[in-house]
This record gives sequence, structure tokens and C-alpha cells, in this order.
Amino acid sequence: MAKVGIGIIGTGSIAGAHLRAYARYPELCRVVAVADIDRQRAQKFAAGAGDSVAAYGDYKELLRRDDIDAVSICTPPFAHAEIAVAALNAGKHVLVEKPMAASLAEADAMLAAAEQNDKKLAVVFQNRWRHDWMRAKALIDGEHLGRILFGKVDCLWWRGDEYYDMWWRGTWEQECGGATINHAIHHIDAFLWLMGEPEWVIAEMGAVDHDIEVEDLSMAIVRFRNGALGQITSTVAAMHNFDRIEVFGSKASLALPWALYSVASQPNGFPKANPEYVEKLQALADGLELGPQWHEGQILDFLEAVTTGKRPLVDGVEGRRSLELVTAIYKSATTGERVQLPLAPDDPFYTTEGLRANVVRFPSSKSAVETL
Ligand SMILES: NC(=O)c1ccc[n+]([C@@H]2O[C@H](COP(=O)([O-])OP(=O)(O)OC[C@H]3O[C@@H](n4cnc5c(N)ncnc54)[C@H](O)[C@@H]3O)[C@@H](O)[C@H]2O)c1
Repeated sequence: MAKVGIGIIGTGSIAGAHLRAYARYPELCRVVAVADIDRQRAQKFAAGAGDSVAAYGDYKELLRRDDIDAVSICTPPFAHAEIAVAALNAGKHVLVEKPMAASLAEADAMLAAAEQNDKKLAVVFQNRWRHDWMRAKALIDGEHLGRILFGKVDCLWWRGDEYYDMWWRGTWEQECGGATINHAIHHIDAFLWLMGEPEWVIAEMGAVDHDIEVEDLSMAIVRFRNGALGQITSTVAAMHNFDRIEVFGSKASLALPWALYSVASQPNGFPKANPEYVEKLQALADGLELGPQWHEGQILDFLEAVTTGKRPLVDGVEGRRSLELVTAIYKSATTGERVQLPLAPDDPFYTTEGLRANVVRFPSSKSAVETL
């Protein structure tokens, strides 16, 4: 079979992870061209990508090439939908970085373009390929934790003020939100994957330690349709710089970074350790055969989807789920309402313009300067 011709659009920080991952599968694919609005950056990236990789300053030139079958979109979030729709309409398969888009309306336009053109659309959530995250999914799906009662996400990361010096970060227009949509979204995606469909969310947020108009902290409580409760803290203002996902079932609990817990009842109802059950779960987890991790795992999955027609693990529908919950968190934190899911197309927060017009903006000298 002919190798899949790859284009990479946006040649900044994360593009290198895509390039390295494609390079792991020379029998399946070949990077043909790259594009960036900063043409010099694209040229430098192309030079490091191998012989005869073309560089463009406009992604539309890249899309005109017949020898490109699929593209990785590695631009800032606000540009994802425009480029993805153009690529799908040009007959290319698309792997787009997280977050999928700036709004649910944009995500739905991408899904419609994939459907109309019969092309694959996948969204990068490479953590799903981490072995421990896959082990957690297998134990939960096998019902080894029992009934899922509640869970927690603590995305307690830290970034200094300089992090927000980059032009697109810290803004509703370009980053499309803050710590929730750009950092904790990895954990939110995994949380939904592990816990199920959310029914409603109630949230609060603020810019507590950075001079930005978007949030650097949000806290949310989620009710899932299976009755479970969830708690999600998303921040880049935690000196801790630590993340953890926990899922508590009626028979056992697990945590990422990996840990398993189970207790049995003493006659008086007090707990005693249950090492036999923990060992059984660990043996089940250790018995799984798992492939490559991180971007290498996801890019192999994407290439297989392109070549065999299978559904990518994180297709557009899956990629949209975390965006919808994040949008609901923004809506609840702005309005004070308990927000029911799914969000309908007539919801004020559904479109990019609606979200930007309605969402709370925190006082920021950056936004004040930009709107002068
Ligand atoms: N999966 C992950 O773990 C991970 C990690 C970091 C970033 N990301 C995501 O990757 C995306 C890019 O982030 P980054 O840190 O690489 O940003 P970056 O600023 O380092 O790189 C983005 C590049 O896109 C270019 N660009 C902007 N608009 C463009 C357009 N219209 N056409 C072509 N090029 C354009 C910029 O010039 C820049 O070179 C974001 O969506 C971010 O959330 C994902």
C-alpha cells in the first residue's frame, strides 16, 4: 500500500511531537510538507524534518498538494476549525490538537465536513494511550471496580507569568479559555472516558494569580447520568504542579498516577485492608497487552484509521465531549446556573461569538491594551 502523505500545519512546540511520532512509522507514512504563518519557522522545521520536505507560509498551498492524504493541525486553538474544515473539504484526513475547536458550533462544523467528505477526523488526547490510563479504562469497563460512585480530577499545575507572554495565550479570542480548556482538558477527556456521560455541572472560576482575562482556576461539580458525582479542579496557579485522577467504585478505587485501593468490612463496619482484591486487579492490569504510548500511540491509531477505515479511538465525536463539558463549566461559572448537558445549538454559549460575548472576562492589562 502507498505510504500516507502527511502535512503538518503549525510548526511550533507541539508539532515536534507529531513529527517524531510519524517518523516512528516509516513503513506507513511520510511527512511531505509543513506550513506555518511564520514561513521562516516552517522552513526551519522542514529542514529538520528530512530531505525534500516542503515548507509553506499559507496552509492552503499545502492543502492543494495531491500527495498529501492527511494533516496534523498544530496551530493555536482559535485556528483549528477553519483549517480542519478546509482540509476535510480538500479531501484530507485530519488529526487536530486539543482542544478540538473554539466552540461547539465549530466542532459541529468539523464533524459535518468529515461526514460529507467521508474522511477521518481525530482529536489529540495522547494521554489515553498511556499504559496506566488504558489499564484504568480496562478495569472500569470490566466492572472490576464495581458500581462507579464518584471521581475526582485534580489538575493542579503551575505556570509563571511569562507563560502568558506568548501572543495567543491567556485570551478568550485565541486560546479560547484558560487552564480548563488548555491544560485540564486532558484530564477532563479521560474523566469522561472513565466515568460516562455528564448530566449537569455547576462551577466557579477566577484569574487568581495571573494577569489574564481567562481563568487560571476553575472548580466544578459534575453529576453523571449513571448517578456518579465528579469533582474537577483545573488550575495553573498551584505551586504543587501535580495532577491526579481518582475513580471510586463500590468494590475498589483507582488513581492516576497509578494506585489501587480496596477495603473490606469488619463485623462492626469499620474498614480493613483487602490486599487479595488489589492483587487480583493488579494482575488483570498487568496482563493487558499495550502498544506505544503518548503521541506515538495516537498517531499509530490515526494512521491505522486512515489505512484500514477503522474508527479512531478519539474521533471527532469523542474529541467534542470534553469541549462540551468545558463550555458548560464556563457557562455555569459565568451565570451561576447549574448547567444541563447537552448544550443545544440555541444556547448562548454554543457559538464562538456567543461564548465570547457572554463569558466572564477577568480584569487584565493584556486585554485592556489589546482593545485600546
Ligand atoms: N497534546 C498536548 O499535550 C499539547 C501540548 C502543547 C500544546 N498543545 C496544543 O497544540 C496547539 C499548538 O500549541 P503550541 O504550544 O505548539 O503553540 P505554538 O505557538 O508553539 O505553535 C503554534 C504554531 O502555529 C502557527 N500558526 C498560528 N496560526 C496559524 C495558521 N493559521 N496557519 C498556520 N500556522 C499557524 C504559529 O505561527 C506557531 O508556529 C494548541 O492547540 C495547544 O493546545 C497540545
